[in-house]
Amino acid sequence: MVDEDLKIDAKKLASWLSKKEPVTILDVRPKEEREEWSIPGSIHADVYQKIKAGENNVFSDYKLPDGPVVTVCGAGKTSMIAAEQLRRKGFEAYSLQGGMKAWNFVWNIAEISFGDFKIIQVRRSAKGCLSYIVGSNNEAVVIDASLDPAVYQNLAKENGWKIRYVMDTHIHADYISRTRELSKASGAVHVMIDKANVDYTFSPVKDGDVVLFGKAPLEVIHTPGHTWESTSYKIKDLVVFTGDTLFIDGVGRPDLKANNDEAVKKSEQLYKSLSRLLQLGTSTLVLPAHTSDAVPFDGKLLTSSIGAIKENLQLLKLSKTEFVQYTVSRIPPAPPNYLTIAGLNKKGSYKGYSPYDLEAGANRCAIA
Ligand SMILES: [Fe+2]
Repeated sequence: MVDEDLKIDAKKLASWLSKKEPVTILDVRPKEEREEWSIPGSIHADVYQKIKAGENNVFSDYKLPDGPVVTVCGAGKTSMIAAEQLRRKGFEAYSLQGGMKAWNFVWNIAEISFGDFKIIQVRRSAKGCLSYIVGSNNEAVVIDASLDPAVYQNLAKENGWKIRYVMDTHIHADYISRTRELSKASGAVHVMIDKANVDYTFSPVKDGDVVLFGKAPLEVIHTPGHTWESTSYKIKDLVVFTGDTLFIDGVGRPDLKANNDEAVKKSEQLYKSLSRLLQLGTSTLVLPAHTSDAVPFDGKLLTSSIGAIKENLQLLKLSKTEFVQYTVSRIPPAPPNYLTIAGLNKKGSYKGYSPYDLEAGANRCAIA
């Protein structure tokens, strides 16, 4: 029989972390799974095999800090056994309900304000997916929505904004885009680059077009390479939303759904697109669609300037030939379920599928 008192839900653990309450998070998954994705600040207990083998005192020699301990595994079953064993040792132990699969939907925000507009970076902590709601006067745009529409609608409401436009920087392959759903829920216009090969209708824009919301102009920059339709959006020379084309510490992978010849062509395009982005002002802030590490609950905006990225990212100093060789030879393993996810995003509907299962696992969009 399961003791319900042993469980803590992902939302509650996230609120503890946001409030900096003392908690020890004990990750009981095998090391390889933890290396894929984890909760910021968690520590590893290498007990998975022992628990699976039926050992009933796996923490006999463990010393843990005072205060609550939350055990974590993939889906919340092994962590229950671990929490029970810790309770027997006298700890205030809890098991994270639903494990990492539930933690996948936990998010936090960071903000930055400019004269005419304010940006809220909405971060899915586990996968490092970054989406944005940008408001000016009483209007807003949402870029790369990756969470339930209500998340963005509530943020808009809190700030007195009406969501006018929604858009993706590209057809994502590592999470299900919620942009179309948000468009339907909010009545916002779904904008996309005219070259996008999707099965639904949208309001097409092309390179150089400007989408005006409030007092802020959002300019479209077509930056193919990571995917053919990849698009960046900039506001004046202040910020540029780069999707998976340029990250703070890497560049997008040019290979998914491509054979080697196509990966080379995409890499050549990526080089061109990056050269174009690097010509923006050195102080322009880059706001990407992903970060490679779990996002802490610290409210710090994940960004860097074009100047700093140019300085620090060695692969941006390579010639075109070297860049293509480098990126094509350093491609990471494909993200889990990427063909299914990209297919659903092309279709614009994930009816019959569960993001809970499909989106589990780290994002693998970058090459550094
Ligand atoms: Fe991507």
